[in-house]
Amino acid sequence: MALVDTYPQFPFTLVSGEGARVRDDQGREYWDLYGGHAVALLGHAHPRVTQALQEQAEQLTFYSNATRLHVRTQAAERLAAFAPHGLPRVFFCNSGAEANENALKLAVQQTGRIRIAALEGGFHGRTLLALSASSSEKLRQPYLPLLGPVRHLHPQQMSDVDQIDEETAAVIVEPIQSMAGVVEPSSAFLWALRRRCDAVGALLIYDEVQTGMGRLGRPFAAGEHDVLPDMVTLAKGMANGVPMGAVLMTESVGERVRTGDLGTTFGGGPLACSVLLAVLDTIADENLMERAAEFGTNARDLLKVGPVRQVLGRGCLLGLRLDGDAAQLQRRLFERGFITGTSSDPCVLRILPPLNTPTDALHALSAALCE
Ligand SMILES: Cc1ncc(COP(=O)(O)O)c(C=O)c1O
Repeated sequence: MALVDTYPQFPFTLVSGEGARVRDDQGREYWDLYGGHAVALLGHAHPRVTQALQEQAEQLTFYSNATRLHVRTQAAERLAAFAPHGLPRVFFCNSGAEANENALKLAVQQTGRIRIAALEGGFHGRTLLALSASSSEKLRQPYLPLLGPVRHLHPQQMSDVDQIDEETAAVIVEPIQSMAGVVEPSSAFLWALRRRCDAVGALLIYDEVQTGMGRLGRPFAAGEHDVLPDMVTLAKGMANGVPMGAVLMTESVGERVRTGDLGTTFGGGPLACSVLLAVLDTIADENLMERAAEFGTNARDLLKVGPVRQVLGRGCLLGLRLDGDAAQLQRRLFERGFITGTSSDPCVLRILPPLNTPTDALHALSAALCE
């Protein structure tokens, strides 16, 4: 096989999908409660995504940032308007790791400092600075000499906030740590991070690659509990599967970015920007944030059955804390026609479905869990 063998893969080959359902090459159907890896925000083959891609491809498939494009300018304006007030500037890139890499580089450049703080359990991507901020020892080990100086704070340990000091350029956090097993730092902890960053002159970065774009039943976690970060990083569902990432930033960070400081060939390409506009329109027109919030509420009622001890998270970012092994339950759910995700906590199964997943899926999953 030509593809390198780097991914543990699900035991089927998918060929098509519609909404929250996908089909394999044997004709078997599944509820996609993993949402194409937290990416299919509007579900699969959404007609507005298809239409946006087709119309844009017929006009201009690509031109880099060497030229202005109306679709790119409009996508940035609309994304900034969707974000909480106070994050009006946008840099487009192609993935979550790239968004985090750029946000961290900006923090280093603008503060003149090199230390970074991040949280135990955090995952921020595989490029070198993003990996430096991630806490997985297994992923970090082979590259240790190349990784940046990062302190990992414990989100349950309020006194760890004091480790952020005058040498710290930035603190990067997931407002809900998805890969860690849907772990939510307390609002008091996030608020303390903000206050400490202000006191020592460090920048606060929210990695909203998973929590952003309406998944929690609100546009972003940024702005919750009156905590506004200096930068927010995005990717995953923002263009429903067309590769796209972004860094949202305050005016004060944005105005210090000089020509040539950041760059990418493909970031902010017209296909991705046209789909981002379709995603933002559809979130509004189909009340997807309300639907995501309702999905989370219903999940709390319906999924605490069988081996599930606790339903963690909110909206369409949920973790099922189990009595037993999540990987084993995931395999058994494949057999019953459900795709779910594991996490780095062996007892937490993750549910990251499209925002328009019907309640039928929850009833069906609930019945399967009871069995
Ligand atoms: C919170 C978070 N940040 C960053 C990333 C990295 O994103 P990408 O795989 O697009 O580089 C991920 C990927 O799962 C993520 O969950």
